[in-house]
Amino acid sequence: MAKDLLDKGSKRLGWAKTHMKVLAEVREELTAKKTLSGINIGMAVHVEAKTGMLALTLRDCGANVSLASCNPLSTDDSVVTALREQEGMDVHAKKGESDEEYYSNLNNVLDIKPDVVIDDGADLISLLHTKRKSESERLMGASEETTTGVNRLRIMADKGLLKFPIVAVNDARMKYLFDNRYGTGQSTMDGIMSATNILIAGKNFVVGGYGWCGRGIAMRAQGMGADVTVAEVDPVRAIEARLDGFKVAPMMEAVRSADFVVTVTSCKDVVAKEHLKVIKDGCILANAGHFDVEISRRDLDSLSKKKRQVREFVDEYVMEDGKKVYLLGEGRLINLVSGQGHPVEIMDLSFSLQALCAAYIVEEHKNLANEVYNVPKEIDEKVARMKLKLMGLGIDELSKEQMDYMSDWEEGT
Ligand code: NAI
Repeated sequence: MAKDLLDKGSKRLGWAKTHMKVLAEVREELTAKKTLSGINIGMAVHVEAKTGMLALTLRDCGANVSLASCNPLSTDDSVVTALREQEGMDVHAKKGESDEEYYSNLNNVLDIKPDVVIDDGADLISLLHTKRKSESERLMGASEETTTGVNRLRIMADKGLLKFPIVAVNDARMKYLFDNRYGTGQSTMDGIMSATNILIAGKNFVVGGYGWCGRGIAMRAQGMGADVTVAEVDPVRAIEARLDGFKVAPMMEAVRSADFVVTVTSCKDVVAKEHLKVIKDGCILANAGHFDVEISRRDLDSLSKKKRQVREFVDEYVMEDGKKVYLLGEGRLINLVSGQGHPVEIMDLSFSLQALCAAYIVEEHKNLANEVYNVPKEIDEKVARMKLKLMGLGIDELSKEQMDYMSDWEEGT
């Protein structure tokens, strides 16, 4: 059994390595520069093959790495086994952690006294500002992988609470344009289909939130033949969704005919009591947003008379009036709970940014204040150019005259 897990995890890491070609170039560059030599890096990310490759890359570049999961249900146990037994990596994660185990694992990572933290959702950074304040003193800085984490950290920065600099990797163009949109789009459909084995074509498919992730999910669901409705709170994004070819309606209206509802907003109670009272019988609910607060399990529990697991990762709730509603993966990130996470080439880009930003923090931390910084344009474009080269694509360059024209306000014609 343990041997099977090891074999599976080892193959998954190998497959990821084969397809993470940008990261391989970054590894070569950072190894030669030795920027990360002897640096302690604490990571809280979804522990699966691609993050395994990031951790191994950082270690190959000379860092001491400790790794925990940023979600109790997203861990790939086979990869954990391979990382531990084959690679001797310090990993604290398993699929299906209790709250207590989750925080104990994050604390284990902080025990290595990191110089740099790579976080996904800001739980590790939050601990460094509360129960583990003393560990933040030697920290050079941290990077944050996802929208929800960056939102939390910007609130802390606005209140003057940050104790070290943060680089918002999520907000790099090479991250959100591809990871959030195409990565979440494809992997969310993968997660829903793996969990349910239900046909998407011809179904009413509601997407709550038309941000970078929502755009990807709506696009992919429509591509598979679903009739897609977007529920939004931002009037501009609602118009964008309409002009992109989707229906737009408030969630209260959309759920009445929904076969699927997927939330991806970073907000809470996007599907709650009032929606559950009018939702279509048989509706399948899934969340792709970072935390499990977007679909209210509390309201599902209080409005239902019976709950049972009907498939792996599918809970059936029988409401007081006999109507049935299905919740996938306990309302946690469905693309990681029952899918395999983002496609490997997508994470190649996100994690190349992460590795380069870790080196940037080491090199520049003395010049950074306790604020949230965007990824430097040079790093964003460097990853883009590496990827373009690997894709065999060329682009044009501005001539001197064009550059002068673009930077001149007087010359209009
Ligand atoms: P975003 O900020 O680009 O978009 C969020 C959208 O949701 C906005 O348009 C906002 O107006 C809308 N919204 C907020 N509250 C709402 C509500 N109550 N009802 C309807 N719409 C609402 O954020 P992005 O990048 O799309 O990320 C969304 C979530 O997905 C975040 O939690 C992020 O951390 C997570 N994420 C998940 C990934 C995954 O692998 N599943 C990958 C990347 C991000």
